[in-house]
Amino acid sequence: MTISGTQQQAASSALHRRYRDVRSHSLLLASPLSAEDQCIQSMPDASPTKWHLAHTTWFFETVLLMPHLAGYKPFDRRYQYLFNSYYEALGPRHPRPQRGLLTRPTLAEVHAYREHVDAAVCDLLAPGRHRAADEAAWRAIEAIVVLGLNHEQQHQELLLTDILHAFSCNPLLPAYDPAPMPALRLAAQPSPHSWIEMHGGVAQVGYQAQDGFSFDNETPRHSALLQPYRMADRLVNCGEFLQFVEDGGYRNAQLWLSDGWATVQAQGWHAPAYWLAPDDPRVAHQDAGCAKGWQVFGLQGVRALDPLAPVSQLSFYEAAAFAEWAGARLPTEFEWEAASGMPGMRELTGHVWQWTRSSYDPYPGFKPLPGVAAEYNGKFMVGQLVLRGGSVATPAGHTRPTYRNFFPPAARWQFSGLRLAKEL
Ligand SMILES: [Fe+2]
Repeated sequence: MTISGTQQQAASSALHRRYRDVRSHSLLLASPLSAEDQCIQSMPDASPTKWHLAHTTWFFETVLLMPHLAGYKPFDRRYQYLFNSYYEALGPRHPRPQRGLLTRPTLAEVHAYREHVDAAVCDLLAPGRHRAADEAAWRAIEAIVVLGLNHEQQHQELLLTDILHAFSCNPLLPAYDPAPMPALRLAAQPSPHSWIEMHGGVAQVGYQAQDGFSFDNETPRHSALLQPYRMADRLVNCGEFLQFVEDGGYRNAQLWLSDGWATVQAQGWHAPAYWLAPDDPRVAHQDAGCAKGWQVFGLQGVRALDPLAPVSQLSFYEAAAFAEWAGARLPTEFEWEAASGMPGMRELTGHVWQWTRSSYDPYPGFKPLPGVAAEYNGKFMVGQLVLRGGSVATPAGHTRPTYRNFFPPAARWQFSGLRLAKEL
């Protein structure tokens, strides 16, 4: 199929607008944070806000501008080493655990880097720059820009989860934003959960190739055989998880996978990552009026535990132990996907990512993206579990029912929770 000059101009204008929107949203998310906040790295798995702002810019500079914009001059060639994350094909890089040492470049210099790259991308996307005869070149550019924007949206979520982890390590437990944007509020669902019955059979799973975007790990679409099962229509909430805690769930080895139990012992886990027990010494710094019971630290600071809010900041191990305690299990990723389109399903996205019992593996016939982007997903397909849905920190419009998020089983700094499944 070919496109006319008019269609191409409209497409480049739309992409240009989307580019500006996504890029400015990253700065908006960083805006409540001080320069000191934006430099800190609290653990090797988490990156400083400033690094996220620079690395997403590096992606556009390295994968889009350097190969596709004739005459482009890199902002600073040393940034190729500083802000490469894990792309072996693009050479050596600054060690991940040492990203918090980068007091230089300054935040202002990183902002200048973003402006330099944004100006060049806008030049590349300018309507009228590409003639209809250049369709193949335009399609290649469009695909990289769309991938780069989805990449930046993934880092927008990590920016929030990483700064929340850094703040959780600070005894003052600062609020990211005491007056959050409406999109960051959890909606409580007061009704009891019920089970959606699924009769099993052959389900079609994975992304159906069409005009929209998906990551390579969601393809190819294929058949999966499902046994009959039941799926909870909503997420497990904090009130239910508190019962597990108070019933000694974290002290009962029978409920845990062996690796999970070893992690509980080694890490001293006794509740979800950001829960504060009534006797937590940090509670004394908070409002005395809400210091009588459990409290939960989040983007809005410390709040009294809301029994109706979905439980969050769980590892896979904790999700699996809770499911065992509740006489249920975690769904597989294909059970989750097949049930996601059923009438009555609630809280599928916008609250927490939901752990599944599925290893993060390639689909039958999986082919990584061409070029440098081949390293985007495929090489991480070992030792991780799939999460489905989307969280309160996921940018609007970023996720879809076939989307596969993935983390190691002990990871608990994401907005991750669970939905129960059972045999029918
Ligand atoms: Fe990245």
